[in-house]
Amino acid sequence: MASGTAERYVPASGVSWLTGTYDVTVALSMRERAWRPALVQAASRDLPTGGSAVEVGCGTGSLTIALAQARPDARVTGVDGDPAILELARRKPGAERVTWLEGLAGSFSLPVSADVALCSLMLHHLSDDAKAAGLEHIASALSEHGVLHVADWGPPRGPAAALGARALQLFDGREGPQSLLDGRLPEMLGAAGFASCHRHAALRTVWGTLEVWRAAL
Ligand SMILES: C[S@@+](CC[C@H](N)C(=O)[O-])C[C@H]1O[C@@H](n2cnc3c(N)ncnc32)[C@H](O)[C@@H]1O
Repeated sequence: MASGTAERYVPASGVSWLTGTYDVTVALSMRERAWRPALVQAASRDLPTGGSAVEVGCGTGSLTIALAQARPDARVTGVDGDPAILELARRKPGAERVTWLEGLAGSFSLPVSADVALCSLMLHHLSDDAKAAGLEHIASALSEHGVLHVADWGPPRGPAAALGARALQLFDGREGPQSLLDGRLPEMLGAAGFASCHRHAALRTVWGTLEVWRAAL
């Protein structure tokens, strides 16, 4: 794992021995097709010609690679703190279009400012202090009118979603997801310097309600 933090590091599937099953789990339980392509399109719309995009907590790189394929003109970087998952990302078709970087949400460094950042299913892995530091760092890595797209857990809509969120917290820990389940993401984005944020989707999944947000500096 990338060093430089005393934080508990939560790998993609909650525990490192399940990392190899991550893509299958997401495909079966998170209605990927209902939100990933739309997220790629939204990020692509915000990306100027020849611009730069970064996914922070890119995991196996599904989203990063899809964006790089949608926008061959752009410079696309995938950052993750777990070298094992980056290795899985590097082996995927299309991975050669992406620059892969081992680093943490609060301290990665890019050669040029990004026009667009993405955080998909990553923030809920972090403590509230690390979320604040990570979001501030992402804001600082963006260009003047940069945009951040976030897909992550939100307040559960209905009892089945509440049960799913409980199950998620068994894998990923209680603290990280809780502030998002309490609906505090907009407040955290504002505190990190994002002047406007807008939720453009909320979907029921096995693990609770997944929300997709766009935040602009
Ligand atoms: C659930 S996976 C999401 C992967 C991918 N973004 C997706 O949408 O499928 C969360 C990822 O965040 C990474 N991660 C967790 N804490 C991190 C941190 N502090 N900095 C960077 N990456 C982190 C994990 O290694 C994991 O690959």
